[in-house]
Amino acid sequence: MTTKKGAAAIAWWRHVVIRWWSCKCKCQWKLKLLLFLSVALTLYALFTFHSTHSPPDISFSSSSSSLSPSRHRLLRLQFDGVPKIAFLFLARRNLPLDFLWDSFFENADVANFSIYVHSAPGFVFNESTSRSTFFRDRQLKNSIQVGWGESSMIQAERLLFDAALEDPANQRFILLSDSCVPLYNFSFIYNYVMASPKSFVDSFLDKKENRYNSKMSPVIPKEKWRKGSQWITLVRSHAEVIVDDKVILSAFKKFCKRRPPVDAKKGKLNIKLQKQHNCIPDEHYVQTLLAMSDLEGELERRTLTYTVWNQSATKMENKGWHPFTFNFANAGPKQIKEIKDINHVYYETEFRTEWCRSNSALVPCFLFSRKFSQGAAMRLLSDGVVGHADTSEV
Ligand SMILES: *[C@@H]1O[C@H](CO)[C@@H](O)[C@H](O)[C@H]1NC(C)=O
Ligand SMILES: *[C@@H]1O[C@H](CO)[C@@H](O)[C@H](O)[C@H]1NC(C)=O
Ligand SMILES: *[C@@H]1O[C@H](CO)[C@@H](O)[C@H](O)[C@H]1NC(C)=O
Ligand SMILES: *[C@@H]1O[C@H](CO)[C@@H](O)[C@H](O)[C@H]1NC(C)=O
Repeated sequence: MTTKKGAAAIAWWRHVVIRWWSCKCKCQWKLKLLLFLSVALTLYALFTFHSTHSPPDISFSSSSSSLSPSRHRLLRLQFDGVPKIAFLFLARRNLPLDFLWDSFFENADVANFSIYVHSAPGFVFNESTSRSTFFRDRQLKNSIQVGWGESSMIQAERLLFDAALEDPANQRFILLSDSCVPLYNFSFIYNYVMASPKSFVDSFLDKKENRYNSKMSPVIPKEKWRKGSQWITLVRSHAEVIVDDKVILSAFKKFCKRRPPVDAKKGKLNIKLQKQHNCIPDEHYVQTLLAMSDLEGELERRTLTYTVWNQSATKMENKGWHPFTFNFANAGPKQIKEIKDINHVYYETEFRTEWCRSNSALVPCFLFSRKFSQGAAMRLLSDGVVGHADTSEV
């Protein structure tokens, strides 16, 4: 605003000055001098106003974040210690598989990891809600109510990244759900993730579904629209990109909305509602933002979290793909080995086969899996998947 006003004022004064100077009437030289001085003074005043009232930093929302982008970067530059992995849990309330994670973190070095939990506002991890001490006092104080499939989900993710960026030791950021399990011990996962200078982000062209809303253009061009699993692992600079973004997020809030289920009470309005784009923000936001930031070259374009999809068509409103839940019976050593043996992923919309690599070495694709019931997680624990099984405590 100030720049525009300033430019207009200068243009106006120039106009006046030229007219006066070149006027054919017998202008007094004193009048000319007076005019010249007043122009000079006005310009001086405008200039000083401008330099003391620099525009606010619009690239950053101070209400949702506690650090400025430059500070994040400063922390990154200053750090040279043992790098940590930040484990970011997006929970509905408690962590039902905390006993398995407890054993996983027991077998780690405390200097090598940190934990952050986003749970429902007001929910407290204490002796009665979690037997594991690892999750006490690790909750975000500024957590929000999350609607599954809504943009509040990506806002919760951003809060987790933002909190974790405050610790300069955090160099990798793994987003996990409350039904995720680790398939390996800590040191295996640590070495795998740290060895790679890239983020692990499942990201592909979304050709089949029509979730892109043309109203997003030109903020989000169609060719940058991506789809992929919500369960991502980021390097620090990419976590900063997520936290610093405001523009793409607001386009998502406006135009990427979940289609509401058919509600008989709404009658004919349903026809209109069902025509609306059905967009699940958490399956598009990070992928699209990173594509728009020209960072796809810094990605392993796959997820580290395994999910089995099951199409159920039992109820009309729930029609679609749902993750299959592992229970005690189907989480045995044979099934777990089958997941661990997967070494490539095929992306049918791009005819792309992704051979799984970490820092160019061929590696198993998956380090984590969902969705696991407590029984299934119990079986992993007793089979020693995350380390030495110590079932005597449980
Ligand atoms: C744990 O937190 C819950 C919810 O805030 C509270 O109701 C409960 O009394 C707490 N339990 C203990 C042992 O502090
Ligand atoms: C962790 O797992 C890897 C691979 O499964 C194994 O080679 C290694 O010995 C394990 N390390 C510890 C400390 O248990
Ligand atoms: C902890 O980090 C150090 C330094 O990166 C590494 O040498 C060590 O193996 C890590 N410990 C575990 C249990 O992964
Ligand atoms: C798939 O979902 C249906 C309905 O929800 C369920 O009955 C069935 O057991 C599921 N199949 C598998 C393999 O999970």
